[in-house]
Amino acid sequence: MNYPIERIRRDFPVLAQQVNGQPLAYLDSAASAQKPQAVIDREVAFYSNEYAAVHRGIHTLSAQATSAMEAVREQVAHYINAASAEEIVFVRGTTEAINLVANSYGSAFIQAGDNILITEMEHHANIVPWQMLAERQGVELRVLPLTAQGTLDLSQLDSLLDTRTRLLAVAQVSNVLGTENPLETLIARARAVGSTVLVDGAQAVMHQRVDVQALDCDFYAFSGHKLYGPSGIGVLYAKHALLNAMPPWEGGGAMIRDVSLTQGTRYADEPWRFEAGSPNTGGIMGLGAALDYVSTIGLDAIHDYETALMHYALDALSTVPDITLYGPAERKGVIAFNLGKHHAYDVGSFLDQYGIAIRTGHHCAMPLMAHYGVPSMCRASLAVYTTREEIDRLVAGLQRIHRLLGG
Ligand SMILES: Cc1ncc(COP(=O)(O)O)c(C=O)c1O
Repeated sequence: MNYPIERIRRDFPVLAQQVNGQPLAYLDSAASAQKPQAVIDREVAFYSNEYAAVHRGIHTLSAQATSAMEAVREQVAHYINAASAEEIVFVRGTTEAINLVANSYGSAFIQAGDNILITEMEHHANIVPWQMLAERQGVELRVLPLTAQGTLDLSQLDSLLDTRTRLLAVAQVSNVLGTENPLETLIARARAVGSTVLVDGAQAVMHQRVDVQALDCDFYAFSGHKLYGPSGIGVLYAKHALLNAMPPWEGGGAMIRDVSLTQGTRYADEPWRFEAGSPNTGGIMGLGAALDYVSTIGLDAIHDYETALMHYALDALSTVPDITLYGPAERKGVIAFNLGKHHAYDVGSFLDQYGIAIRTGHHCAMPLMAHYGVPSMCRASLAVYTTREEIDRLVAGLQRIHRLLGG
């Protein structure tokens, strides 16, 4: 495999540093990925030379900034193969995207007596907005459980879906287990009962090609910062017919056609109807640069590189004494584990002393922690810049902690 790992690593300035006297091994990209110079440069160039308020000025800079922003919308649509840029709403991140759907689509189209199906492996961002909606509107929240292997228990699906199911909200890839869910099956079964489907793509878009038309999902949400882009920018994809039918959720400037104190307000067309206020234009430019960056490496090359690295990492980690690995054999991007009886914070603190950054805690997936009966897990994650040497250092670090602390 001719994957230019050394060149890619040089693209990420943060990776060159030492942490606690050791070269940084950044294995926390699933929480937030590092940024290539091209993304940093794009934001700097935008703020240095191109910045102005968008969608409200007649002057040249404003018109150019507006065009640049709308060009990124086209680029996002192309990246996930949406039918048109009108289906792309800029939001702060996956969390805001899901809250938008819950507040707009949920309030208008999900009523008392209806139900929503989520799964036991969801991130809190794909649980709490539905709980809030359920409480507000008397909607039933149903949960598809997990098997012992950390996959969804599809045998339960038919008993949980029925003609009152209005929405299936499911992660494409689990942020803890790395499980890639069988979206084709899930979406077909949800469709069969007339349900819409929201896919939380936060842990998928950086690892593989996403084609929302082929998936035939209704909503698809992701965050820029996990895709090597800036923090505070994300995307909600929604099928045009749905978006067209959905009421706005936040009111303010930019989302209106005209406002009158006597006649009320008429709203802008979608997607702008869902983008009240001044957007994160710098973030949008950086997101565009991130998509360019990932596309230049190539999603197929990334997929092949990370798949081989994942197999290497799973083999290497399974040699560590007293390690418990959570999740299925085939997975994407993340490896969750615990070492003996040690709290994940202790393990993570030791690793930090060796310059190794991992995520520790409940990973915003407390129901999943409850499923496994643990308060926390360690999680190492892979990215375009992760190397076998970094995995080897993680394994050596865990072996050392085991020697120091026992099982
Ligand atoms: C699967 C999943 N969904 C949602 C989110 C929330 O993303 P954000 O905090 O960027 O809104 C995350 C972030 O960790 C995630 O991994």
